[in-house]
Amino acid sequence: MKYSLTDGALQDHNSPCVVTTLKAARKLARSIGVSAEVTRASQDFKDTPYQSVCVNLPGKIPRLLIVGAGDATLDADGFRKLASAAAKRVLELPIKSVVYAFDHVKVTGKKSDWKISTLAHAMTNAAYRYGKHKPSAPTPPSLTTTRFHLHNKTNAKSAVRMANALDKGMHLARDLGNEPPNICHPAYLLKETRKLAKATNVTVTSLTEKKMAELGMGAFLAVSQGSDAPGHMIIVRYNGGKKNTAPHCLVGKGITFDTGGISLKPPAAMDEMKYDMCGAAAVLGATKAVIEAKLPINLVTIVAAAENMPSGGATRPGDIVTSASGKTVEILNTDAEGRLVLCDALTHAQTFKPQSIIDVATLTGACIIALGSHASALYSNDDKLADQILDAGQMTGDKAWRMPLWDEYQTALRSNFADVANIGGRAAGSVTAACFLARFVDGVKWAHMDVAGSAFMGGSRKGSTGRPVPLLFAYLCSESGIA
Ligand code: BES
Ligand code: MN
Ligand code: ZN
Repeated sequence: MKYSLTDGALQDHNSPCVVTTLKAARKLARSIGVSAEVTRASQDFKDTPYQSVCVNLPGKIPRLLIVGAGDATLDADGFRKLASAAAKRVLELPIKSVVYAFDHVKVTGKKSDWKISTLAHAMTNAAYRYGKHKPSAPTPPSLTTTRFHLHNKTNAKSAVRMANALDKGMHLARDLGNEPPNICHPAYLLKETRKLAKATNVTVTSLTEKKMAELGMGAFLAVSQGSDAPGHMIIVRYNGGKKNTAPHCLVGKGITFDTGGISLKPPAAMDEMKYDMCGAAAVLGATKAVIEAKLPINLVTIVAAAENMPSGGATRPGDIVTSASGKTVEILNTDAEGRLVLCDALTHAQTFKPQSIIDVATLTGACIIALGSHASALYSNDDKLADQILDAGQMTGDKAWRMPLWDEYQTALRSNFADVANIGGRAAGSVTAACFLARFVDGVKWAHMDVAGSAFMGGSRKGSTGRPVPLLFAYLCSESGIA
């Protein structure tokens, strides 16, 4: 989807469809002399929130789509619902472009730029289709351009730029997530990531398994060794900021398929473990958005890409490995593999002397038990960083909820034979997984997001959501000084 701005009188627009509220629709109808048509077509329309009616008209504006907003000031969630109702209805129409006129709608504490970001984000979400391997899928929507009508374009230019960048990042994240695991293996992630290096200030490199062995990444390799598909530690460097400013760093769990390894998972819904690379997809999607938006920051993105398979060469429960940090790990359960690839990725991330590290991972089933799908779990060793991430989540609706990283939980990871065990028992599984990662972070602001519940949906709406790309991008925008 392409987003742009438009101003001037609404009635002077040449558009196959204008989308607006009932009040604004009546005003527009008066100015183009079609009041009777609009009154007749909307006589049963109650103007209750999120209802809609489409009126066909003669003249320059052949369709007027009226979306219920009521008279009251909306809250943020109310406007989000209006935005997604409007997007869904618009996408059913056989049109290529649309004009959105919602700037007059009052939302508590929010300005034009937030409304545009929200409308665009709802459209990006609703317009997404993944039909690559389904020739029988219905034809996708024809809409390619959404124009936002405003009386004063100047204070929304950056919102539109960011919306276009986020649209690209969301597409990348969702496509990578949905790709089947026989295609999306570590080398595929590397190949797709290399496409980011088309931009001049981006480089993409990868540590091969041989190089990782030299760096002592025994935890990563313990996961990867059971698979015939070689693992990769993918590194993207984006230099949009001043030469000597420390980079921000994103780290993603990229398990392209998680069978559990020798601690094999039960068969039910195991196909969903193709989504175990959604952390990687999200950090790559956010990176794509940063590159598209040309944010004035430096960014290092690291993807720990491996496949967790059982085989004659696979890691056994009880194996002890040495991580790149020098700490030894007793692998009691080979299904707790995400933390193993991530601990070595986090050690590597710290060699870039970043100003902050955020890792994103579909790390634990326990996270889904704790928070369901509405919030991502957030852990951080820095209150300010945590608050900034929570704010980015509130602003975009891509919400996160902070969880504790207290020392009390660390005792669960005690091992009789190594520095740390890779599992901590049934209690507080998402917390003890985060505590495991915390042991590999030293002297740097760090946050961990467990997105096991938010990054993809199961059941009949199975598919990747692209979360938490909106949150990550909003955080990096605010770090760049862009509201
Ligand atoms: N990838 C899974 C976590 C997961 C489960 C994500 C369901 C999304 C949906 C992870 O590697 C895993 O298997 N975790 C184990 C940890 C346990 C062995 C300590 C889990 O959650 O059961
Ligand atoms: Mn697992
Ligand atoms: Zn996993």
